[in-house]
Amino acid sequence: MYDIILRDCHLPGYTGEVDVAIVQGKIASIATKNKARATTELSCQGLLVTPPFVEPHIHLDSVLTAGEPRFNQSGTLFEGIQIWAERKQSLHKKDVRRRALEALKFMASQGILYVRTHVDVTETKLIALDALLELREEVRDWVTLQIVTFPQDGIFGQPANERLLIEALRRGADVIGGIPHYELTREDGVRSLDRIFSLAARHHCLIDIHCDEIDDEQSRFLEVVAANAIRHGNGERVTASHTTAFACYNDAYSYKLMGFLRRAGINFVANPQINITLQGRMDTYPKRRGMTRVKELWQNGLNVSLGQDCIFDPWYVLGTGNMLSVAHMGIHVAQMIGMQEIEASFAMITQNGARTLQIPDYGIKVGNPANIVVLNAPNIFHALRFQVSARYVIAHGKWIAETKPVETMMNAEGLDMHHKVGHKKKS
Ligand code: FE2
Repeated sequence: MYDIILRDCHLPGYTGEVDVAIVQGKIASIATKNKARATTELSCQGLLVTPPFVEPHIHLDSVLTAGEPRFNQSGTLFEGIQIWAERKQSLHKKDVRRRALEALKFMASQGILYVRTHVDVTETKLIALDALLELREEVRDWVTLQIVTFPQDGIFGQPANERLLIEALRRGADVIGGIPHYELTREDGVRSLDRIFSLAARHHCLIDIHCDEIDDEQSRFLEVVAANAIRHGNGERVTASHTTAFACYNDAYSYKLMGFLRRAGINFVANPQINITLQGRMDTYPKRRGMTRVKELWQNGLNVSLGQDCIFDPWYVLGTGNMLSVAHMGIHVAQMIGMQEIEASFAMITQNGARTLQIPDYGIKVGNPANIVVLNAPNIFHALRFQVSARYVIAHGKWIAETKPVETMMNAEGLDMHHKVGHKKKS
């Protein structure tokens, strides 16, 4: 007797439809026509079953604050930083917890069960950090939350910031962050990365750098991240986020850099919705797309994942915590519209993100934690094209969310149409 059986799943890698059985929070069996019974049986009717979506880059401390104290009218990164500097003066733990929890629930209902959040640790009381450290434990049964110490104003930009960064690691953050292109000088940026890598070694933590998020083709901290990763031999534990300046470098330099990146083996996170919006603001026309070289990194065998970055905050007033919408934008901006490229884009919001976060037991395999999402689509292409909802979300063997597919009836004269978006087409 199992706790849950998902009947008739389309599970990529398996021929025909399979039943996935769960007991005591783990995947116990994957088999065709399993005759055993379960307390809960969910009929999947050939729908796509996938490991959960991974959100590798979000700022939960600032989610759901758009308009406080005012909306970002220019839509630029710098006005966003200014508004956040004002808003963070009024942070308190309950405020951060309420907003972050609301966002996490919304994300989980759409199939995201692994989240890496950056948290600004240049606020002197570390209020948001403490709130998110508590929340990480509170939500552990249904979402894995990683916390990055993000020095929004730079490590050396204010005298207290380096101490705050170290204090944040001491309090239990999982990942150390940085923002070298926003340090006061190029030399400070290089020094900040050297410091981050040595702190990571001392605190045994992962590294995730906001790196070169600027349209300046002279912003070349990605090479410094790669050099540090090569010297420390820890590339798989290092992530370069944004790296939008890489889209502005000349091709001769980019070719050389790509070789160093392959050697370093670091992870990349691109945030297509945010950077198509924030970058290129000083351009007239032609206007740059503002996203890093996602397609070329993928073609070079580097691990690329996609993140949303912002949900209704000072930098981006849209955002719904939906990874299919992130991948959809990524496909457009990177021009990855070939069938193989579309499949690769789905990997960028699932397995590649898990590799970035170094999740050890990710995937639908017997013995792994039963973290499973059933999408309202028969395959990956359909899921991305129709931006479907998550029919069932199962976290550590518990059925935590269900969304029924959208159903549209058309009754106008001459039309006889009954269409369920995302539902399997019978033939
Ligand atoms: Fe970010």
